[in-house]
Amino acid sequence: MSKNYYITTPIYYPSAKPHMGHAYSSIVSDFFARFKRIEGFNVYFLTGTDEHGLKIQRAAEKNKKEPLKFCDEISNTFKDLSKTLNLSNDDFIRTTEKRHHISVQNLWNILEKKGEIYLSKYSGWYSVSDEAFYAEDEVEEKNGVKSSKVSGSMVEWVEEESFFFKLSKWQNKLLELYEKNDKFILPKSRRNEVISFVKSGLKDLSVSRKSFSWGIQVPTNKDHVIYVWLDALTNYLSALNYPNTKDNLYKDYWPCDVHMIGKDILRFHAVYWPAFLLAADLPVPKRIYGHGWILSGDEKMSKSKGNILDPLEIINEYGLDPLRYYLLKEVSFGNDGNISKDKLISCINSDLANNFGNLCQRVMAFTEKNMSLQVPKNINFNEEDLKILNKFSDNYDNLIDYINNQNINSYMNFIVDQMFIANKYFNDQEPWKKKNNLKRLNSIIYTSLELIRKISILLYPVIPNSSLKALNIFNITEEQINIESIKNNKFLESGTNIKKIDILFKKVLSND
Ligand code: MSP
Repeated sequence: MSKNYYITTPIYYPSAKPHMGHAYSSIVSDFFARFKRIEGFNVYFLTGTDEHGLKIQRAAEKNKKEPLKFCDEISNTFKDLSKTLNLSNDDFIRTTEKRHHISVQNLWNILEKKGEIYLSKYSGWYSVSDEAFYAEDEVEEKNGVKSSKVSGSMVEWVEEESFFFKLSKWQNKLLELYEKNDKFILPKSRRNEVISFVKSGLKDLSVSRKSFSWGIQVPTNKDHVIYVWLDALTNYLSALNYPNTKDNLYKDYWPCDVHMIGKDILRFHAVYWPAFLLAADLPVPKRIYGHGWILSGDEKMSKSKGNILDPLEIINEYGLDPLRYYLLKEVSFGNDGNISKDKLISCINSDLANNFGNLCQRVMAFTEKNMSLQVPKNINFNEEDLKILNKFSDNYDNLIDYINNQNINSYMNFIVDQMFIANKYFNDQEPWKKKNNLKRLNSIIYTSLELIRKISILLYPVIPNSSLKALNIFNITEEQINIESIKNNKFLESGTNIKKIDILFKKVLSND
């Protein structure tokens, strides 16, 4: 079995600074990347910015800047956000980089040589905001304004010479692909949407534009730039230096394990992208996961709606790990979710401060006072101890399965349950009353420390900084974290010194 794992976020439009929706796609992808690393995989985690097309050209014009200069500035805010979110990405691709141009033009040449592209004329609707073509029946008129029924974005009429990709030809092959691999598109509901869209009939796709120049030139016709989605999707290959295979990145990591995207861009990833690849005779990705939206009230958070929540503001006020924890635990993954300050505060207080934080503080305070900050010796687990310790090894396969099926909520529920159980165990065992029974006392404290260790490891992909702070008690460094070790109940070496713990999470006072 291959021990390589490739996961990507969407590449973001640097048309305005990032918001919570972008942070969400990145944080969930980072969660999987981190888990797979501690599972022992060589992970390649990619994020970046999507810098060509009319949307960016117009945004630059509005700001009276050269497109590249404009992109340089905003792309940097996305790069900074990656650091602020503590993303463990291995690369950050910009579609204005040379390596990307080479890849895109190479893919174009292959498609053209294979007869998959032809020159004709496009006349129809185009949404600059989505950078998407819409058919007549996908467009509606409200108050004299035409917009897409699919996304709600305004559309404009376009009539120009254009190259077309023979998408219609790939309809059956795509349906076969969805049929053969029923987890190619997840969650299931999204898969069904895509299948019915493809079954309703695919038309050939316009893949070049002539009326503006901010893009990658069609190699065989200098009057055209390549359609921004064909350009953007290829980032997943260009980051692996495709078609250059010398450094083995392409060989090791393609096909991609998961393209993590928002449901708004499913059609591009689950229909157009595999069709381009099939036509070029390249392997298709293994999975496209279309997550839900972070809503503001009932609406999608987006710049055009003016309802955005700035992740930096939230992080400054409450900290990064609480935000990561909230987004991973409180949003039902795959569905839309809401974020509000009140919900975030109650999550910090109940789960992080009262539950996990409190467990660590109590156990450590007791160990400091009664065991001179040493992992106890002379232990003998009783049935109760083993019952809760074994929960981790018994559920090991389930946890791996949750991750491989992007089932974040079951993974989180498991951790939350174990946090409650561990707190209850410490209360019920009443170690403060066992000072005359040293063996029992040692076993209770050993078990409690082991539980903290196991829970902290499972929390690493969720709240890496806090998990590392907790694991630091045992001198466990990031490089040493290994998911296999949660199966081992006698991991901590008796007699070794442990360190004091800093307060992990402070309770937040609600405004009301
Ligand atoms: N540039 C394209 C993607 C190209 S990928 C080859 C694009 N960019 S975007 O900046 O508009 O949005 C990127 C992604 O951000 C969305 O697909 C989605 O994953 C995420 N989100 C943007 N707004 C969102 C919410 N309100 N909620 C959750 N995620 C959303 O589309």
